[in-house]
Amino acid sequence: MTKNIIKKTALITGGAKRIGAHITEFLHSKGMNVLIHYRHSEAEAKKLKLKLNRKRKNSAEIFKADLLDSSSYDALIQDCINKFSRLDCLINNASSYYPTPLSKINTRDWDDLLGSNLKAPLFLSKYAAPYLKKTSGSIVNITDTHIKSPKKSYIIYSIAKAGLVTLTHSLAQELAPLVRVNAVAPGPILWPEDSKEFSKKYQDKVIKETLLKKTGAPQDISEAVYFLISSATYTTGHVLEVDGGRSFSL
Ligand SMILES: NC(=O)c1ccc[n+]([C@@H]2O[C@H](COP(=O)([O-])OP(=O)(O)OC[C@H]3O[C@@H](n4cnc5c(N)ncnc54)[C@H](OP(=O)(O)O)[C@@H]3O)[C@@H](O)[C@H]2O)c1
Repeated sequence: MTKNIIKKTALITGGAKRIGAHITEFLHSKGMNVLIHYRHSEAEAKKLKLKLNRKRKNSAEIFKADLLDSSSYDALIQDCINKFSRLDCLINNASSYYPTPLSKINTRDWDDLLGSNLKAPLFLSKYAAPYLKKTSGSIVNITDTHIKSPKKSYIIYSIAKAGLVTLTHSLAQELAPLVRVNAVAPGPILWPEDSKEFSKKYQDKVIKETLLKKTGAPQDISEAVYFLISSATYTTGHVLEVDGGRSFSL
């Protein structure tokens, strides 16, 4: 009997570690099949796949792609369909993040930051759209609390994430009424790995500036994503801030 139950399927980009991995595990714990996209984090992706498949056989798969490679977009969506025969949710989480002060700006960083944060979500959405329409599915784009007030020296990243908000609104129009498109804008959740800029002093300053006086947890983001894909059935084109009120204090 259980064999015949059709599982909903989510594709999570950058889903092998940190917030993406939490979203992957959370959606899986709600009964969904997951396609975990990764680029460099192969060991983490394989480990997560193994862990999830131990919980439910054939419920998790992995796909390696550099989202700067335009040929990866269609391939990633096709792989999901080949493996799970359907797609219900596209979670555009993968992102590159580093400062680009004006004097040091170059086109390589432009291509990298715009490519992962904006171009990939657009083209993945384009190729996912026919399958999402079949399942009345949805898209969630992970943007940033800094969309309202750009972070100093992060010009290109800020442009990309602000563009992702406009993309959310545009796709909501394009894909209605069958597919809903929303965004989650995290505040401070996990500090970047290997960044000298995020010293203890800087972290304390960020927390002090945040209304709720603490960082959030990956769970907060996963809950918001799950709310948008499962419960918010009359919501599209919305950006849900999960930032401890930080955007009000910037
Ligand atoms: N962390 C926070 O507190 C925070 C705050 C505000 C917004 N956000 C947003 O929340 C999301 C998750 O945050 P995070 O800190 O967990 O992200 P992250 O660790 O900085 O990056 C997530 C993943 O993106 C993938 N990625 C980057 N460039 C890629 C490319 N060209 N092609 C394919 N994959 C690429 C990487 O995969 P591989 O490791 O496999 O290479 C990486 O593991 C991001 O969209 C971020 O902008 C996070």
